[in-house]
Amino acid sequence: MIIYYSATGNCKYVANRIASKTRDIAKSMIGYNDSVYLEKDESLGIVVHTHFWGLPTFVEGFLSKINIISEDKNPYIFLIATFGTSPGYC
Ligand SMILES: Cc1cc2nc3c(=O)[nH]c(=O)nc-3n(C[C@H](O)[C@H](O)[C@H](O)COP(=O)(O)O)c2cc1C
Repeated sequence: MIIYYSATGNCKYVANRIASKTRDIAKSMIGYNDSVYLEKDESLGIVVHTHFWGLPTFVEGFLSKINIISEDKNPYIFLIATFGTSPGYC
């Protein structure tokens, strides 16, 4: 599963490009309040943009609250941060 947060469309584009290659589903973070359920061997990708040298406040809130439930003990989770000039402390 891939979850993205996108203001102007770049992260949505990136998320959908990756999802099309990995045969995943790309969902918007906005309005997503459920737990994330990962099947066996399913990874979680998070695609967000750099916002003032860090993560958008909305994304920080989302990541601190979301409950990730996986059939694997250690699911593979990755984060991609798009950026304009410098990813800073993402
Ligand atoms: C308010 C604002 C702050 C940003 N801060 C940064 C930054 O600190 N560093 C950077 O490299 N890009 C920064 N950017 C550029 C975005 O990270 C970049 O355009 C990103 O791809 C936008 O993704 P989106 O189209 O999915 O919203 C900023 C853009 C905005 C509008």
